[in-house]
Amino acid sequence: MDMTGEYFEEQAASLEPPVLHVVADYDAMTARAADVVAGVVRSRPTAAITLPTGSTPTGLYRELIARAKQGSLDLSRMQLFCLDEYLGRAPEDEVSLTRMLIDEFIEPANLSEEQVHYIPSTADNPRAAADAYENEIVEAGGLDLTVLGLGPNGHIAFNEPGSPPESRTRVVDLTAESREQNSAYYGGAEIPAQAMTIGIGTILAARRILMIVSGESKAGMVRQMLEGPMTSDVPASWLRLAGSRYEVILDEAAASGLSGR
Ligand code: PGA
Repeated sequence: MDMTGEYFEEQAASLEPPVLHVVADYDAMTARAADVVAGVVRSRPTAAITLPTGSTPTGLYRELIARAKQGSLDLSRMQLFCLDEYLGRAPEDEVSLTRMLIDEFIEPANLSEEQVHYIPSTADNPRAAADAYENEIVEAGGLDLTVLGLGPNGHIAFNEPGSPPESRTRVVDLTAESREQNSAYYGGAEIPAQAMTIGIGTILAARRILMIVSGESKAGMVRQMLEGPMTSDVPASWLRLAGSRYEVILDEAAASGLSGR
């Protein structure tokens, strides 16, 4: 472990540990995550929330949409902040994470344009635009909840291995592994080499952080994230700096590599 890791490890040791829920399967993970989102929106109807993209959250989208349609959840004032997008790509592009979020959640949940904050991935000056995105979060009162998935290489949003805990919204190079993972979302399409992502520091500043993970293929990374050294090699390990503001919902298969299981 390097000095930086050691310093942060000590900091995390002085905090309450993350809140861990192990549930039977994907559907139970989804239902529990929906309860967390619903609770946050109920206590603050204008809550600022991020939702991840990828294969893990599709059940969560469906559950939130169903609750909104039944009338038990009012999403009409929540503010949705996007986590990440390929650099230069916009929702009009087929290969776009924002497109995925629009198709699978934003439109079916009937969110209005004013409720959604898009990653400025097509800005002429990405650096200034990334700073402006951070300001948008501050103006919304800060993030009430960031819901995250876990990348196979330990990334959170597109904070790839090497990302420091204080990182903020910025342009990043994508790893070959993440490009391959993402390519599968679009039937094997080529994925841009760079992306814009909110930072680990942006995530750590949220009032609550919720990580959802399903399946045995992620079990090894879950163990590293929760029990391995805190290191930029495993960006998700930095979330332990949030102490008990950080909640993890795992299905049995994703939890199967944890000690004592
Ligand atoms: P996945 O992606 O849900 O498709 O496994 C998770 C992530 O990379 O955040």
